[in-house]
Amino acid sequence: MKDSDKMEKIVSLAKRRGFIYPGSEIYGGLAGTYDYGPLGVLLKENIKQLWMSKFVHAREDMFAVDASIIMNADVWKAVGHVDGFNDPLVEDLETKKRYRADHLLEEAGIDPTGMDVSAMNKAIIDNEVLSPDKNELGEVRQFNMMFTTKVGANDDESSTVYLRPETAQGIFTNFKNVLDTFHPRLPFGIGQIGKAFRNEIAPRDFTFRTREFEQMEIEYFVRESEWKKHFDLWQESMWTWIDDIGLSRDKVHELDVPAEDRAHYSDKTIDFEYDFPFGKKELYGLAYRSDFDLKNHAESSKQKLDYFDDQTGERFIPHVIEPTFGLDRTILAILSEAYTEDDLGSDVRTYLKFKPSVAPIKVAVFPLLKNKPELVKKAREIYDEIRKEIPQITFDDNGNVGKRYRRQDEIGTPLCVTIDFETLEKEGEPLTVRDRDTGEQETIEAKDVLSYIKSKLA
Ligand code: GAP
Repeated sequence: MKDSDKMEKIVSLAKRRGFIYPGSEIYGGLAGTYDYGPLGVLLKENIKQLWMSKFVHAREDMFAVDASIIMNADVWKAVGHVDGFNDPLVEDLETKKRYRADHLLEEAGIDPTGMDVSAMNKAIIDNEVLSPDKNELGEVRQFNMMFTTKVGANDDESSTVYLRPETAQGIFTNFKNVLDTFHPRLPFGIGQIGKAFRNEIAPRDFTFRTREFEQMEIEYFVRESEWKKHFDLWQESMWTWIDDIGLSRDKVHELDVPAEDRAHYSDKTIDFEYDFPFGKKELYGLAYRSDFDLKNHAESSKQKLDYFDDQTGERFIPHVIEPTFGLDRTILAILSEAYTEDDLGSDVRTYLKFKPSVAPIKVAVFPLLKNKPELVKKAREIYDEIRKEIPQITFDDNGNVGKRYRRQDEIGTPLCVTIDFETLEKEGEPLTVRDRDTGEQETIEAKDVLSYIKSKLA
């Protein structure tokens, strides 16, 4: 299957089966926005729960916050986003459409790594780079990606605020609160899951680059002398997370980001890139932010944001390691990894080979026939019993069993339980449990079905 075909198929399946819909679709859509449908919500919730339990609940050194999306504008001035959170923008002189200059250079076979605005201008002129509509391009200029809005009834400069472009600052601004309430000792971290907004010049590749997205971020506070040790530990934890969600390690690649391409706050960054169908692209990042954020906030807010070590008597601003995980890119990587076609049975079968822990629906229960009340009644009983322990379950009695299997395969349900006449007639009430990946069916007695399912989902 060609990669472009695969991407088209994923987008179409995502819509058809209720994972991801285009945003504001009935009004013709809004570029760079997507809505998660019922199954997308379940998938997202699974990822968030796995992330929270691995990185927060299972650790004594981690805390969670849920900060406001709209923050005091001084936050973004203090850490350089008002002046420096920019992308290079260039305009088609004919159509007036705007593009990312670095993207156009890449598409023309020129590596924009390390280029500033004037180097990009020169590269465009020297190489006669044109717009996608084959028109001349204007000057490259910096474009601030933060969305602005106004708070309150006044419409002056002082009421301008920004939608946060990263969740990280909601953590830094609560550093002192968490310290004062819980008195953690270094090293410790604060995690947050939430929305972030960027006015991307060129949203593209489905949910890969959108204007509204979710991040799962950690700011881990350490002594400066120990930053490398903790950076390495987090790097390893990120790899185990990649295993946890079922991405194969050979599709994930580390990129040690060169200094000129790092964000303005970072002294070292490793990107985790994933082999998406549209190319190898950034999935996650791990950055050493030094004391950049806390120091700037302390200076700007005139608050003490330092840490007091009561054993050594030292007082200092901690340094920070930041593992950051894009939630929407995680979902897109999981969908790309899981999308499979095979020829089980007579025709091509499409299925999502989700790891059970991320699958939105874990089990489907079917009565063999819809019009036999005794079968439906028994199937309902078994469904209710399983549901007590596995709430992500569905009941389906529409169409023939073969079609129901295909429907469940397409949404990645690992197991289907079918109740037939043998269940009603035979001792031990045998029923069949079908495995999504192999299509094989096992006969299990009704009393054992829950423990069998749990062992298969583990
Ligand atoms: N706090 C650090 C930070 O925000 P970033 O590399 O700009 O770093 C972190 O973003 C992660 O957020 C990325 O690795 C990616 O997964 C996700 N992300 C960034 N921009 C995005 C966009 N426009 N659409 C979807 N996800 C995005």
